[in-house]
Amino acid sequence: MMDQASGLRDLMAKSQSTNSKFITVASGKGGVGKTNFAVNYSYLLANECDKKILLIDADIGMANVHLFLNLTPKKSIKDLFAGATVEEVIQRSYNFDVLLGFSGIDDFFELDEVSIQAIVNQLDEVSKRYDYVIIDTGAGIDEKVAAFLRASHRSIIVTTPEPTALMDAYALVKSIYNIYGYDRFKVVVNMAKNQEEGELTFNKLKISVKKFLDLDLELLGVLPFTNTLRNAVKHKELIARKYPKDAYTQNLRKICKAELALTQPEPENFWKKLFDFMGKSR
Ligand SMILES: Nc1ncnc2c1ncn2[C@@H]1O[C@H](COP(=O)(O)OP(=O)(O)OP(=O)(O)O)[C@@H](O)[C@H]1O
Ligand SMILES: [Mg+2]
Repeated sequence: MMDQASGLRDLMAKSQSTNSKFITVASGKGGVGKTNFAVNYSYLLANECDKKILLIDADIGMANVHLFLNLTPKKSIKDLFAGATVEEVIQRSYNFDVLLGFSGIDDFFELDEVSIQAIVNQLDEVSKRYDYVIIDTGAGIDEKVAAFLRASHRSIIVTTPEPTALMDAYALVKSIYNIYGYDRFKVVVNMAKNQEEGELTFNKLKISVKKFLDLDLELLGVLPFTNTLRNAVKHKELIARKYPKDAYTQNLRKICKAELALTQPEPENFWKKLFDFMGKSR
């Protein structure tokens, strides 16, 4: 406890920004390109927009962010129970920070309140150093994904033009909105043949969401289907780094610019909200 307290003081002394924005990337259907989006988005925000980024792999079932970034997970978030500081758990890649291994999150709730509070405080203090915290989640609508979405300033729902992906994106928005009243969604259409197909896809979703939920959805951008991305993945490279002129990278750059133009949210204690939501939904 002594160690944790002194670690906490160090972290508080080092924290700079107090207005970090938490963005959760989610989808209804699996395999729509969330993780590729999250890592390349983090890369561009850090390397071309000069933002301080923390990327969190919150895919509880199949964490794989490290594979895209050639990282070997050192420590996981589980080590926080044993007294490791968040700093020891964070790894660095391509000029941004990465927090791997959220798979042990269930074990948090076996801890007593004081220990949970200490971990929440640590995570909160560390997060304040970043302009953006980008959170990659697993597919589907389980309670943990819902907790990440509800605690975020914004959610990016990734879909493809495939009808099944679109239907699942609708189901995700519907359940999170109907059950929790959460409405801070933006949409990215990935693997579109062209801009027109991407916009048509988005419009179908927008119309259903308006008609059945009376909610307005906004398109953040369209990303094309490209074999360049698949090749980059095969060679353990990031498309945004290796192919800065590819249409995928160019469109992703526009999404970054759109994000930067949005007004800054009020600071909120993301971690406290997250742990409260998860605690309640157990
Ligand atoms: N724009 C794209 N063009 C072509 N292939 C793509 C594109 N985006 C993603 N892919 C491919 O789709 C597959 C799934 O991508 P990714 O792992 O990013 O999806 P995911 O939504 O994170 O999946 P999961 O739900 O399993 O976490 C990968 O093989 C990836 O290379
Ligand atoms: Mg993924």
